[in-house]
Amino acid sequence: MADKTIDELCASLVEKREKTAQGGGAKAIAKQHEKGKMTARERIDALLDPGSFVEIDEFVEHRCVNFGLQDSVFLGDGVVTGYGTIDGRIVYVFSQDFTVMGGSLGEMHAKKICKVLDLSLTNGAPCIGINDSGGARIQEAVDALSGYGNIFFKNVKAIGVIPQFSIIAGPCAGGAVYSPALTDFVFMVDKIGIMHITGPAVIKAVTGEDVTSEQIGGARAHNATSGCAHFFANNESECYAQARKVLSYLPSNNMEEPPFVETGDDPARMDTALREIVPTNPNKGYDVRDVIKKVVDNGDFCEVQEMYARNIVTGFARVGGRSIGIIANQAKFMAGCLDIDASDKASRHIRICDAFNIPIVTFEDVPGYLPGLNQEMGGIIRHGAKLLYAYSEATAPKITIVLRKAYGGSYLGMCSKDLGADVVLAWPQAQIAVMGAEGAANIIFRKDIEASENKEATRAQKIEEYKEAFANPYCAAARGFVDRVILPEETRPALYQALVMAESKCELRPKRKHGILPN
Ligand code: HXC
Repeated sequence: MADKTIDELCASLVEKREKTAQGGGAKAIAKQHEKGKMTARERIDALLDPGSFVEIDEFVEHRCVNFGLQDSVFLGDGVVTGYGTIDGRIVYVFSQDFTVMGGSLGEMHAKKICKVLDLSLTNGAPCIGINDSGGARIQEAVDALSGYGNIFFKNVKAIGVIPQFSIIAGPCAGGAVYSPALTDFVFMVDKIGIMHITGPAVIKAVTGEDVTSEQIGGARAHNATSGCAHFFANNESECYAQARKVLSYLPSNNMEEPPFVETGDDPARMDTALREIVPTNPNKGYDVRDVIKKVVDNGDFCEVQEMYARNIVTGFARVGGRSIGIIANQAKFMAGCLDIDASDKASRHIRICDAFNIPIVTFEDVPGYLPGLNQEMGGIIRHGAKLLYAYSEATAPKITIVLRKAYGGSYLGMCSKDLGADVVLAWPQAQIAVMGAEGAANIIFRKDIEASENKEATRAQKIEEYKEAFANPYCAAARGFVDRVILPEETRPALYQALVMAESKCELRPKRKHGILPN
């Protein structure tokens, strides 16, 4: 047989490439679009900088011969993998192709994902996975299970070293959900993203409960109720824009600093409107996000887990172009008290920030821990301990701003000086005490109040006395627990100065294999 010409060989390569690009074929692509879903490649294009994607392993095929699968071979094996850039920075991606055998994961499909995870880790760049899959490829049996096991193992190896994001833009069910759960941020697209361990049919058979997929696995359910997702998107385009934005605050790996972004907002800017947001009456609510937005660059605050545990606010922003991670008690919900969910939410965010060298800024206005049987029996002791653990463990710069209440154990739990805060700032209305004036006066002056003729007048007088003595920032400042008492409008410049001051922070701890997180 005559050797083929170079043109013939090139033509066959081009043909092969075209075949790969068709995924499961025109009919399956049309079905994908009918469901309101982008294809695997369209998704990558929407996520990455235009034209930056480089595909690898496009000719990988499965080698399963069970149940006639040898007659059903698709180039790429149902997952598109490779690398490209976001804002010019390298990221690795995989995007499961539902048009090929429902995006199901077999041996080679898993190997492709593992390859990009390995590349991400070796080259110190983030990895973003787009999930849209019917789960373990049933015909590949234990090879498929082994594939998941390998992915989990690599996810865990990479945790805290490179940022890992999971986008749920289709089904992700059974044990498959544990790869997203092992990544830093889970983004879910409304209506099309579904994550659950067991589906409605199995639940019905085992517990008799009637539930829908949306109820147990939808984007809203996981963002608002279970806390398994961190971002809710109305559609796919919004989701990819969210992922790009979150990445902009993070370094490519844990050995780098977060990227500096020129925001054009003067760090010395002062805003007297801050005086009006937080009422001096400790019983009145307000939205702490209004404070955050006045302080950070251009009012741009990227909230994480916006729908979950709304009594605490977490997110990212910049001050003077530098990334910061934010933890803030939200007086608008449950008076901003700490509970199980808030402790879980905040401690996770602190650990992510610390892993990626992002300074942790805490806006504190906390009345205490939420009382109740559910909280005690749900384990508020061990969940609340996570917050103490996360703050104490963190060696990234820690800056605490006491806006108003800072009572009792929750004062410590929100990163007091004793938990290693590098700088503690307090507003003039700050009250750093064991408890609020009313509760305190009722306990320590109980006998005086009961013995007096006019109990209410005595109670009011004792409350005033206590307020005068302790409901202020100056007692704590007198002991050095507060570094500076500042005017509210001085918050932005003071925060910037603290960030610059702590930029070269280097704190060494005793060596250990790893900590033991109270959970
Ligand atoms: C092989 C699969 C598959 C799977 C779907 N397909 N899931 N093939 N293994 N797991 C195939 C279908 O046979 C079909 O092939 C094509 O993908 C599209 O699927 P449809 O059912 O037509 O799509 P749709 O109606 O949108 O339903 C999507 C679905 C459903 C809800 C995901 O396919 C489904 O329930 N699949 C099974 C899910 C499942 O039980 N997976 C195993 C989970 S256990 P054709 O040729 O007809 O186009 C698991 C364990 C992981 O994953 C453990 C890790 C530790």
